[in-house]
Amino acid sequence: MDPVRNPYAPGAGQRPPELAGRGRELDVFDVVLERIARGRPERSLVLTGLRGVGKTVLLNTLRSQAINRLWGSGKIEARPDQSLRRPIAAALHMAVRELAPRHRAPDRIEAFLGVLKAFAQRCPPAGRGGATPRLRDRWQPGIDVPAAAGRADSGDIEIDLVELLSDAADVAADVGTGIAVFIDEMQDVGAEDVSALCAACHELSQLGAPLIVVGAGLPHLPAVLSAAKSYSERLFRYQRIDRLDRIAADRALCAPAEREQVEYEPKALDLLYESSGGYPYFVQAYGKATWDHAPRSPITAADVRVAAPEAEAELAVGFFGSRFERATPAEREYMRAMATLSLVEGEAGGRDDMDAAVPTAEIARALGRKPASLSPARDALIKKGLIYSGERGTVAFTVPHFGRYLRTQPA
Ligand SMILES: Nc1ncnc2c1ncn2[C@@H]1O[C@H](COP(=O)(O)OP(=O)(O)OP(=O)(O)O)[C@@H](O)[C@H]1O
Ligand SMILES: [Mg+2]
Repeated sequence: MDPVRNPYAPGAGQRPPELAGRGRELDVFDVVLERIARGRPERSLVLTGLRGVGKTVLLNTLRSQAINRLWGSGKIEARPDQSLRRPIAAALHMAVRELAPRHRAPDRIEAFLGVLKAFAQRCPPAGRGGATPRLRDRWQPGIDVPAAAGRADSGDIEIDLVELLSDAADVAADVGTGIAVFIDEMQDVGAEDVSALCAACHELSQLGAPLIVVGAGLPHLPAVLSAAKSYSERLFRYQRIDRLDRIAADRALCAPAEREQVEYEPKALDLLYESSGGYPYFVQAYGKATWDHAPRSPITAADVRVAAPEAEAELAVGFFGSRFERATPAEREYMRAMATLSLVEGEAGGRDDMDAAVPTAEIARALGRKPASLSPARDALIKKGLIYSGERGTVAFTVPHFGRYLRTQPA
């Protein structure tokens, strides 16, 4: 069929033609926004899930919800080894700029911007937070007012963040709304910054201040947060974003097709679900290839069979291969052992996903090495976001079907 009209969108953070199966999360967030705007105590949301499951897309949708309620909003994508100070300053700058036209006292906005500038300019000591210190030194927040002194500029990120966020919340309270700060890839926020962020959220919730931090990240994000502050479980409401169930996956395919007067035969949908496992990225990838191959509506099972190898080849290069290439030879060896063992563990656990978590001790045994000698490879893979350690002493792939992919690769 006409590839120009192909509605599917495999990509990173790419808005899907139909956001299927996320109604519950959207409803929950609506209640959260309403409660916070009314000064009610409420936990913030943290979305966790594997790669390609739709966290970024959902986070962007939640942000739209906040904007629709006239909240100020800003978004950050955290990066390993990067200080949170400047990204968070930029996000708050954006949020307050959205609120400013509705604020009656321009001097209050100016006062806040002065504090914001002081916060942003208080950069961490050289050698930390970013690869190019020279560039960083020249960084200008683009705020015309002079930096204020004596607030949010102590250099202690925890103190500064509490002060900055509560001042931002005051601005939002003045206009009767709130501020939502969205942090994607939150597992990559450095330990000290995570701890400060939790402390700030804790403080704000006690004050009933209308500001929330909404996070998204890999499945071990809750562990990262609770390692920082033990009370973090009571601070955030963790929502596991998972693969789509059959009904939602079918809707993700059928609703956009219907808008182009295209239909699927039920057998075609059976096969597509079998291939995608309901993982949103795969739903889009198989949907896209199938559309391009199908000669006419309705799309048949035979069309899916013809298209699937092409979708798989594309996934092997783009989705899996590009990630595999980021690993060193030692890390690849580690992941290969994981892939073999995860099949065994998955079968033992009666699971169908065949990408089960694997005890690190088993990996060491399989490779004939001492567990301690493998820690550098494991830690590097966690830092690269390829694997995560959910339960103590085990590791799993962050990328769905990654084990299956590795098992088909020649060593
Ligand atoms: N609910 C959904 N229904 C249909 N398609 C979706 C849904 N959510 C996400 N997608 C599609 O899945 C793909 C991956 O989405 P997204 O980039 O948000 O995933 P992610 O969880 O942020 O991945 P990563 O961990 O790699 O950042 C995109 O192409 C998007 O269009
Ligand atoms: Mg993402």
